[in-house]
Amino acid sequence: MALSTPLILQAVSPLYLLAGFLLSTVVYLFVQSKRANLDHIPGPTLAKYSNIWRGYRAWRLNHHTEGVNNYQIQMIGQYGDVVRIGPKHVLVYDPEAIDTIYGFRERLDKGPGYKVFVMTGTDQTALVSIKDEKTHGMYRRPIAHAYSLSSLKGYEPYIDQMIEKLIGELDKHDADGTPINMTRWLQYWAFDVMSKISFGEPIGFLDHGDDFNGMIQAQRENFRYISVANNFPFLDTLTKRNPLLKLFKKKPSMFFTFARRVVSERLAQATKDPESQSQGGRHEDLLGSFIAARKSYPLMTDIRITHITATNVLAGANNSARAMDATIHWLTAHPEAQERLYSEIKSVNMSAMKEAETEGPAALELALKMPYLDAVIQESYRQFGAPANNLERLVGDAGLTLPNGVHLPPGSVVCMNAASMSMLPHVFGQDARVFNPDRWMQQRGESDEAFHERRWRMQRAMIVFGHGSRSCIGKNIVQLELYKIWATLLRIYKVSNYGVPCPVS
Ligand code: HEM
Ligand SMILES: *[C@@H]1O[C@H](CO)[C@@H](O)[C@H](O)[C@H]1NC(C)=O
Ligand SMILES: *[C@@H]1O[C@H](CO)[C@@H](O)[C@H](O)[C@H]1NC(C)=O
Ligand SMILES: *[C@@H]1O[C@H](CO)[C@@H](O)[C@H](O)[C@H]1NC(C)=O
Repeated sequence: MALSTPLILQAVSPLYLLAGFLLSTVVYLFVQSKRANLDHIPGPTLAKYSNIWRGYRAWRLNHHTEGVNNYQIQMIGQYGDVVRIGPKHVLVYDPEAIDTIYGFRERLDKGPGYKVFVMTGTDQTALVSIKDEKTHGMYRRPIAHAYSLSSLKGYEPYIDQMIEKLIGELDKHDADGTPINMTRWLQYWAFDVMSKISFGEPIGFLDHGDDFNGMIQAQRENFRYISVANNFPFLDTLTKRNPLLKLFKKKPSMFFTFARRVVSERLAQATKDPESQSQGGRHEDLLGSFIAARKSYPLMTDIRITHITATNVLAGANNSARAMDATIHWLTAHPEAQERLYSEIKSVNMSAMKEAETEGPAALELALKMPYLDAVIQESYRQFGAPANNLERLVGDAGLTLPNGVHLPPGSVVCMNAASMSMLPHVFGQDARVFNPDRWMQQRGESDEAFHERRWRMQRAMIVFGHGSRSCIGKNIVQLELYKIWATLLRIYKVSNYGVPCPVS
């Protein structure tokens, strides 16, 4: 005779277990929501109880990436300027609040969503995901100079070389009359140019003419993942941080192998010949400055240097490529704007600069003298819609009162979203969804004063590069890239819908 099941196990049938589990989850979510003390802030009902709402919205919109779109943009005007988007999360749409949240006075810590940027398998913290201001300052100080305006001049020759490489490719297509896909080639260019400035050598996309090491595809997947996991950090705990899944660890990517090789060669060279690093014929790239910083900053270890140099490429290239892509798409649809850019570029006296004697890349000084080009570039930043993640900050023990009087208790996570701030109709106009560089220019009949006021309001609301001490360290470099590439390419080529390069004269 079989042993009879003990009574207690009979009572706890799977159904009861499930019911008990669900009930305790509901109780937990409810208590957690109440304890956040944010019931005074409007928002979607489900969002009050779980981050799943945000995660789901982000995931849905990831599969519909046509144009600028995300759940943050969709909610503009729906719940007011301050919206509860999670049990503890509050999204703010008010430009007045930018300084309150990201300014130097409050110095708020970064919020939990940034943990998706922490790299697995190393003890290295990406600059962007360092939590507190003090540690961040310690790590940013040794490298800040390399990104400053005064260092830019040294990177111009690197960018020029990469522009020439791209032009070579365009000329080839011009010669045999085949169209070229500019979305793809500008993407290759963006990766190679960031790598060139960072490591002194390109990854090699322009030479190969395809995503030869799978890096661009891997990046695309990673960004997609981050935009969801940033909204639903539990996903990160389940996947990337899950000890069980460590068993399936991937081998290091070809890009990291590349990074490690270049850095170790350069370190060996620096050790052998310390003088060559600071002087020497070669212009300093970012890696050179980081190696030089070892003298004064012991925290610049070899692995740290590798990591910082590599993250430049990862942080910078995709965003720059997206901004350029926004421009190229708009240009193909607007021949008259190309004409206008072309006249502007031509009218800046090229022979005032030595570069003028060649058809070579325009020097930064020249590129900066072109107000319409500047408007186009501003508009491309505004339109490309990244970064998709919310810029989260943790409210400290004192709580935080927003300019409109709404109070956030300690422990709340307050954030803004760059893409949605760029779409605010009361700042950018009713046509905010449309790519229209003219909004950055003085309008007919608009007084100087009104223009400056309007432009200032737009500039202030754009947080595409973040704001305050944690803002993008690479912004100057991106500007340099974009001014130079457009000022050069649009002087030589026109883009049209099929992407056929077509010399202007
Ligand atoms: C169009 C291109 C780019 C955009 C839109 C962009 C945007 C941003 C944003 C929004 C942040 C963080 C703000 C925050 O979390 O509060 C950031 C941080 C950062 N970016 Fe960029 N970025 C771009 C290009 C670059 C480039 C080219 C580099 C490298 C040369 C770079 C390096 C970094 C680094 C290292 C940080 C972390 C800074 C810190 O925490 O101190 N970015 N970027
Ligand atoms: C151009 O390249 C991009 C990125 O690789 C791709 O998504 C797009 O479909 C291509 N366009 C054409 C017309 O082939
Ligand atoms: C950049 O990453 C996004 C997000 O995954 C992807 O959709 C896009 O195609 C990438 N753009 C470029 C130009 O690399
Ligand atoms: C451009 O600048 C050069 C040198 O400063 C000057 O000689 C020349 O006349 C200028 N050309 C035009 C068209 O203004």
